[in-house]
Amino acid sequence: MHLETNKKIGSPIGIFDSGYGGLTILEEIKKTLPTYDYIYLGDNARTPYGTRSFDVVYKYTLQCVKKLFEMGCQLVILACNTASAKALRTIQQRDLPLLDPQRRVLGVIRPTVEIIDSKTVTKHVGLLATTGTVQSDSYPIEIHKLYPHIQVASEACPMWVPLIENNEHKNDGADYFVKKNIENILKISPQMDTLILGCTHYPLLMDKIVAFLPSNIQVISQGVLVANSLSDYLQRHPEMKQRCSTNGTVQYFTTESEAKFASAASVFISKNICAHHIDLNE
Ligand code: DGL
Repeated sequence: MHLETNKKIGSPIGIFDSGYGGLTILEEIKKTLPTYDYIYLGDNARTPYGTRSFDVVYKYTLQCVKKLFEMGCQLVILACNTASAKALRTIQQRDLPLLDPQRRVLGVIRPTVEIIDSKTVTKHVGLLATTGTVQSDSYPIEIHKLYPHIQVASEACPMWVPLIENNEHKNDGADYFVKKNIENILKISPQMDTLILGCTHYPLLMDKIVAFLPSNIQVISQGVLVANSLSDYLQRHPEMKQRCSTNGTVQYFTTESEAKFASAASVFISKNICAHHIDLNE
């Protein structure tokens, strides 16, 4: 399939996540780049991706990227660490040249990794992420490409996304899981001074994370990093910048029901969001 290249009118930047977590990234992107048009696509009907196999995450992510391309996006951000870890490289290297070599798909891991050496003094860094992201080893691989001297300890937190998606993250029950995962990573890496939240859902647990973490450890969440990186990317790629439309609009699409999206999304960003249902097979 070769896609028709869209004109500047109606070429929003696509923001994709398996669910609602990418909304935290989109909020930061909008603050940094308010004039662009955006389409958010949440594959809420098939979330979570974090416990799924490589093949399934790749297949689902590619389907969503194609849908965003069909909707006119020239540039798509995978605002999901699991999709960035398991699908981004294959999409960039194998699918894009066939679909449309001029379009771009970017992830959230690289922008996070790039700043890490400037944050850590001990050169011991921790990663909290979904099981899929941890098993992919994407973070240690990407960190070591840039900074081979940094030690990375990883801890999968499989209960955190379900707690957040079910709006249980502020309740006492969540304390047990947050405390357990933080204690585990501190045991693996007592010298850690920097902790990456490698899942776009996790900023919602920030209060509890900080409460269970020694005060000398700084927490890195991704929204601002991804927003700055996108701004930088558009500066460095005027040909892409020119193709992205700038009417300041945001449209939200979900593979789940519109009513479910509206009530769950308000947990992530304190706003009423009206999303449109989308069928990926149409
Ligand atoms: N938002 C996804 C991420 O950043 C996690 C949610 C999921 O498991 O689907 O990895």
